[in-house]
Amino acid sequence: MKIQNNIALKPYNTFGINVKAKRFIEVNTSQQIKKILKEEKDLFILGGGSNLLLLNDIEKLVLHIKTKGKKVIGENKKFVFVKVEAGENWHDFVLWCLKKDFGGIENLAKIPGNVGTAPIQNIGAYGVEVKDVLDEVHAIEIATSNPRIFTKSDCNFGYRDSVFKNKHKGKYIITSVVFKLTKINHELHDTYGAIKTTLEAQGITAPSIQDIANTVIKIRTEKLPDPEKIGNSGSFFKNPIVSKEQFEALQKKHPNIPNYPIFKKNKNKNNDDIFHLEPAKIRNPELIKLAAGWLIDQCGFKGKRIGDAGVHQNQALVLVNYGTATGKEILALAEHIQESVLNKFGVELQMEVNVV
Ligand code: EPU
Repeated sequence: MKIQNNIALKPYNTFGINVKAKRFIEVNTSQQIKKILKEEKDLFILGGGSNLLLLNDIEKLVLHIKTKGKKVIGENKKFVFVKVEAGENWHDFVLWCLKKDFGGIENLAKIPGNVGTAPIQNIGAYGVEVKDVLDEVHAIEIATSNPRIFTKSDCNFGYRDSVFKNKHKGKYIITSVVFKLTKINHELHDTYGAIKTTLEAQGITAPSIQDIANTVIKIRTEKLPDPEKIGNSGSFFKNPIVSKEQFEALQKKHPNIPNYPIFKKNKNKNNDDIFHLEPAKIRNPELIKLAAGWLIDQCGFKGKRIGDAGVHQNQALVLVNYGTATGKEILALAEHIQESVLNKFGVELQMEVNVV
């Protein structure tokens, strides 16, 4: 464990932005993290770097979490509890679960990033979010070096949101995550549009979790750019949520606008609104989620390229770096998109990616 100086961060962020860390250190155990915390508090925590747009060189000490390990820590007839260290690659963990026939995260196959950062933005895809299978988050408080276990409800999960993005932003280092997965009677989420049609096209009527994962991998490979080949951070913006009134006005002008009704559940203990997606059941929703990709596409951005910064040709929600784009160039494109969507639809797009 040694601090290195002037390290190029291009290989450490999936956008492939070429900035430097003035000081950089890799940690392989929680003990090493605690040791560093004794001397340094002003840290930049780097996991898989998959939800990050870097604008400048980083002055703080960059702490790259590389802790590894997956362990079954408990089980009963139906469920297994698996503790996974923060530095494990997310997709490798999904594949490990499939091998053991542990169910619950097959719809989240192929999401770039590490296990430790999955709860921060509550990663999600094809009808499943990490909160659905998460039991606990183990962390260390930076200010005190004290360990803390967050239960699922402590995490205040929302759509691409958690307490680690809000109240506790920058205050904790996540060291491991405990998942509650099924051993038998897996609950399949195979009704999501693209999954259903892809399974049907292959003649699969009673899918296994492996079939679902294969399908998700197929869809993602066709639609989303591979960060190993073209720099990107997945969806750059969140899908915006608008009032029923605003949606109805928009639908009058744009009858084909994709929309997902949302039921506003209640308030959590911090008085934040909790939203719940239940498309089929809700007859009279209060709120509607729109597809940011569609809004951006309608503004003519799909496939657009300014220098090496671009909008992916198959999915307008994904911004890409064709090679040498800077973080500032990607951000300028993102802001141009926000402005165009606001002018055309009166809808504000919020960035999902962490811009630093
Ligand atoms: N659409 C277009 N043009 C585009 C892109 C999308 O018209 O360029 C339309 C599609 O035809 C569809 C709608 O927009 O009617 C929604 O698109 P899609 O089903 O591809 O999903 P999404 O809303 O764009 C979300 C997540 C993805 C996740 C998929 C599948 C967010 C911000 N994004 O995308 O997550 O994989 O659903 O569940 O919620 C990520 O977070 O990085 C990510 C990739």
